[in-house]
Amino acid sequence: MAKERYMTDITSKKIVLGITGGVAAYKAAELVRRLGEHGITVHVVMTQAACGFITPSTLQALSGNPVYTDMWDTRIHNSMAHIELSRDKAAIVIAPATADFMAKLVHGHADDLLSTLCLARDCSLLVAPAMNRQMWDHPATQRNVTQLEKDGVTLLGPASGDQACGEIGAGRMLEAQDIADAVAAFLAPKTLSGLTVLMTAGPTFEPIDAVRGITNRSSGKMGYAIARAAIGAGAKVTLISGPSSQPVPVGASVTNVQSAAEMFAAVKLNAKQADIFIGVAAVADYRVEKPREHKIKKTDKAALTLKLVPNPDILAWVAAQPKPPFTVGFAAESQNLETYADEKRRRKKVNLIVANLAQNAIGADDNEVMLLDDSGTHKLMRAPKEAVAKEIVARIAALYGAAK
Ligand code: C5P
Repeated sequence: MAKERYMTDITSKKIVLGITGGVAAYKAAELVRRLGEHGITVHVVMTQAACGFITPSTLQALSGNPVYTDMWDTRIHNSMAHIELSRDKAAIVIAPATADFMAKLVHGHADDLLSTLCLARDCSLLVAPAMNRQMWDHPATQRNVTQLEKDGVTLLGPASGDQACGEIGAGRMLEAQDIADAVAAFLAPKTLSGLTVLMTAGPTFEPIDAVRGITNRSSGKMGYAIARAAIGAGAKVTLISGPSSQPVPVGASVTNVQSAAEMFAAVKLNAKQADIFIGVAAVADYRVEKPREHKIKKTDKAALTLKLVPNPDILAWVAAQPKPPFTVGFAAESQNLETYADEKRRRKKVNLIVANLAQNAIGADDNEVMLLDDSGTHKLMRAPKEAVAKEIVARIAALYGAAK
């Protein structure tokens, strides 16, 4: 069967990444990689000062596209680089944006390639400020921020924390991952606008005693990526998460739980308000019947027997409600993927099952999935989990729309 992409959304999106002359320019290299994971094609334009912090050849190698630094670059045949470079782009993203560059934007200066591009653009402009805390707090910069927002420019950050100058405060650039996620969310079509999505993600932890427990190797990466993609698509997302070290998706309402019983209780509380339920969590099938209050002491003589009892099936419970939300389950199998996943879809009565091989998926950064619904099986290409998540959300939106 041919592998498909559902993406009508951002895989084909191209942006200009403008880099200006601040020390945070070093993070731009990482940003290009993270944007690429979202399926965004990046064309870099640098100011002369930015070239003092990071070289165009680094950005060229990472983006796979020529880097422009100069108005008079002869690679654009009609000498209209200031217009041509932004024409087929969805947005210009300036990261880092210095205080000086923001001031230039406010006043409409056009004295180098990047500022001219911004003035001549017909696409959105996003800026990620990066500067010393006193420069950020200065009334002039604050006036400029207000004016940029009035002009329809989207501000990404800044964050607070340690600064390269040794001071601590507001003004440092957001981390590359956060900027990439925000840009991807900005560009995503709002296919889930006005809808409430309830999700589970991560592993569960079933206590044995005060310090020990049974868990699994689910990282939460796939679930958190789906939460971000759903937020990008305009949904209100409630995420019930087992223990995970993944960064909290910006804009999600997150409830942290440990055991399947806690996850089930949190899902029950929120299920009625949900239009869509996505069960990504690797919920433990069994829990210890009577976890001990105190640490079990080792004895050299006797074997230790733990009695395990089944956990409730959260996904099946949601799907069996009188007026269930559109339900999506995951199936991680180690063999016979399609057969087992389809059997699970029918037995649990869910609208869509996302199936992956456990050995390929758990803890990995990439994933290869197949989607099973009433219309059949659709295989997606192996891709970073962020990109796979967007395809899954696009498919959910299409099926949800068709069902209504
Ligand atoms: O039956 P199996 O555990 O393979 O099904 C996986 C799907 O069911 C996942 O979507 C998972 O989140 C969900 N599930 C659940 N509650 C359980 C077990 C699995 O919601 N107790």
